[in-house]
Amino acid sequence: MKKIAITWMVLGACSVSVCAQTLIPIPSMLEGTTFDLMAQSGTTQIFPGIETQTKGYNGAMLAPTLILEKGQTVTLNVHNQLGDTTTTHWHGLHLSPVNDGSPHTPIMDGETWSPTFEVKDNAATYWYHPHLHGKTLGQVVKGMAGFIIVRDAEEAALALPRTYGLDDVPLVFQWKTFDAAKQIVEMDEEDNEVLVNGVLRGGTLNLPAQVVRLRLLNGSSHRYFNFGFSNSLSFKQIASDGGLLDMPVSMTKLVLAPGERAEILIDLTGKEGQTLILRQFGTQLPQGYPGGAMMMGGGMMGDLDDTDFDLMKINISTPTDGGLTSIPSILTMNTPYPQSGAASRTFGLTAQPMMSMTNFFINGLKFDMETINFEVELGKTEVWTLTNSTMMAHPFHVHGLSFYVLSVNGVAPPANLKGRKDVVTVPPMQGQVKILVRFDDFADEEMPYMYHCHILSHEDTGMMGQFLVTSPASATDEPAQNDPCPICINALPMPSGVDLSKVIRAEIFDLAGRLVRVHEKGSLGGPTLDVSGLPVGTYLMQLSDNTGKIVAVQRFYKK
Ligand code: C2O
Ligand code: CU
Ligand code: CU
Repeated sequence: MKKIAITWMVLGACSVSVCAQTLIPIPSMLEGTTFDLMAQSGTTQIFPGIETQTKGYNGAMLAPTLILEKGQTVTLNVHNQLGDTTTTHWHGLHLSPVNDGSPHTPIMDGETWSPTFEVKDNAATYWYHPHLHGKTLGQVVKGMAGFIIVRDAEEAALALPRTYGLDDVPLVFQWKTFDAAKQIVEMDEEDNEVLVNGVLRGGTLNLPAQVVRLRLLNGSSHRYFNFGFSNSLSFKQIASDGGLLDMPVSMTKLVLAPGERAEILIDLTGKEGQTLILRQFGTQLPQGYPGGAMMMGGGMMGDLDDTDFDLMKINISTPTDGGLTSIPSILTMNTPYPQSGAASRTFGLTAQPMMSMTNFFINGLKFDMETINFEVELGKTEVWTLTNSTMMAHPFHVHGLSFYVLSVNGVAPPANLKGRKDVVTVPPMQGQVKILVRFDDFADEEMPYMYHCHILSHEDTGMMGQFLVTSPASATDEPAQNDPCPICINALPMPSGVDLSKVIRAEIFDLAGRLVRVHEKGSLGGPTLDVSGLPVGTYLMQLSDNTGKIVAVQRFYKK
């Protein structure tokens, strides 16, 4: 008691500008079944005495934590007072596409969007953020991001810390770029600072000397974290994006991609009065992971890339009454869907030109609001193979479900990636990840779910696609459109307005994104690009010129 009182006196005596210790704030918490969120702009003192333009929900920056109970029906009223259009996406929640807050659900300035849905998710740490196509990066880096904590009966039965803000603490880590005037730059190439719950790195968190739970979110636009303690203290990861792991996984380093979450337990029992330093170990990130060293020294290096530095200090204080002193050995049993009969689908992550660090595609395409990239049947299991032919790692995210990681570069994933996930890193240079997906409960013939890279500049510039989940009863075999070819050369439909003399490569993809035909320079005007062997259906043809630039993408129907 005495110790706490003294601590508060010391803190009370120093204003932000003269005190070296900034306390890391804990986001406020909203509970119940109806939530009101105000998307708003404002200013925040991130640097002492300087007002930085920021955006947030129910405040000038960041957002309250929403506490949801599995099985309850909730209504989330999002009031938009930004002076700009936005959307609010509930990242990781399993809900119907109309409630998902994708780019197809814009909230105009001054309007309110009120999705109502049943919480079907397992207890875990999710989050919410804007998702307006082309503006996601700008709105998120200004501060629009909040936690969603889902609770359920299974997790509640375990002896785990769950007193919000005391022994169960949400922490959002965000790389950000500030200009000379300490304003946030809406372009994330440099990332010259890191904020923890909105305050500059180096802040202090007080935690009791017992088992504590940290809910870590990488809410950055671009870069990875490789968390660890300066004294190499080991900690245990108990949950990944979408729920508990089978058992706690011991580790001393934890890599977290943009959009990814992890819940960790740290045993601080008996450590009262000591301090701990949480650090970024950028030098130990795998090569090609943003924040670490890039391939062949290329890419957009920031001053903090490939370096190690302190993120925050933990002051260990008096334990609370009933504080936990041990960690359960078993948490849950994850049961991935059976793989037998699973359909397969492939996703190629590519760059144009191949060495580019900014111009990325999925299956050769940029996102188009009007194009549905494929359809998945409701309740049907699929194995998705993600192959990364670029020079950097991309965190791949899918809406509407949690998936299971089957393999990373051909081998079973590490234990902490074996639980439910919604973001997975596809390693660079032909890295390959296989995931097991199944879309249950919500078929929608019109409103798609999104999949994309969670590096927000990549997403905003089109490293995203969308798909429909259709129920077998209503699924149509025939594609809706049956466009006649505008121009046909050698039975190939050619888009108009393209200088064919500059085209050196044609690639044809089916609607599942599979590359089914490639045609190289020299043969365009010569031997026919034979599409006769292809099944009837809709295809996309992509034409590139001799600089590697895509000059046209043409949809055609093969009869
Ligand atoms: Cu967190 Cu589609 O996003
Ligand atoms: Cu999402
Ligand atoms: Cu990417």
